[in-house]
Amino acid sequence: MNETIESQLRHRSIRKFRQQELTRDELDVLLKVAQQAPTSNFRQSYSILSITDPNLKKELAEIGQQEYIESAPHLFIFLVDQARNTKIAEAQAAPAHVQGSPERFLSAYADALLASQNMVVAAESLGLGTVYLGSILNDPKRLCQLLALPAYVYPAVGLALGWPDQDPQIKPRLPRNIIYMENRYQELEHPLESLEAYDQEIENYYDLRSFNNRLEAFTTKISKEMAQLPAKRAETLDALQEQGFFRGED
Ligand SMILES: Cc1cc2nc3c(=O)[nH]c(=O)nc-3n(C[C@H](O)[C@H](O)[C@H](O)COP(=O)(O)O)c2cc1C
Repeated sequence: MNETIESQLRHRSIRKFRQQELTRDELDVLLKVAQQAPTSNFRQSYSILSITDPNLKKELAEIGQQEYIESAPHLFIFLVDQARNTKIAEAQAAPAHVQGSPERFLSAYADALLASQNMVVAAESLGLGTVYLGSILNDPKRLCQLLALPAYVYPAVGLALGWPDQDPQIKPRLPRNIIYMENRYQELEHPLESLEAYDQEIENYYDLRSFNNRLEAFTTKISKEMAQLPAKRAETLDALQEQGFFRGED
């Protein structure tokens, strides 16, 4: 054990923040740590957008349907960014043909998420609270428009951050033997039986997000979510293609 590991094991998302901004030095160190994350082929194919405009925050909260998107003292959006490297190549008259390929999208997506998680780990080590916001992608086309994203840029994830004003329980994870495998993939043979005890544990977890704050069984939640996407999420591939990705040209 050390302090880093202890802090990581204490992780829980925070959805209520004190109305106090971070100092310039605190923000500076978080951005520095984010940038020091590993990056695929050293391409650094991501950007970090800090959302400070209250009107924009409001619109994002409308898309995400989560009040804390608007009220969080700091809101970042980590972007897949192949536009900058396209410009660099074009400035040298080098053909940039693969910037929208699935491979380049996925490696840039990995870059963006690794940078964001570096920021989360650093923030939590300082006692700050964070929550990722996939919900801002509920309406991907509108989001790209609101953020004025050019071609070859796409939002990977949002991250709200600030000093915590709640103290939620740590959320239990799946039993290790369910997610850990050796050498070859192992199918889950008896899903409900294997997860019975875990379901019980999750039903006993209190979620500070909702008034009716006991969670439903894990297996019930998963079954519901395997059936349908929020309406505009079905436009994800369209939105990606509009941004220049996954067009099947490369
Ligand atoms: C990619 C990603 C997107 C997420 N999006 C949201 C979100 O939109 N809103 C939210 O309240 N939590 C969001 N979360 C947080 C998860 O709900 C949370 O991590 C999970 O329930 C486990 O809880 P814990 O972080 O407290 O351990 C997201 C997490 C990830 C990794």
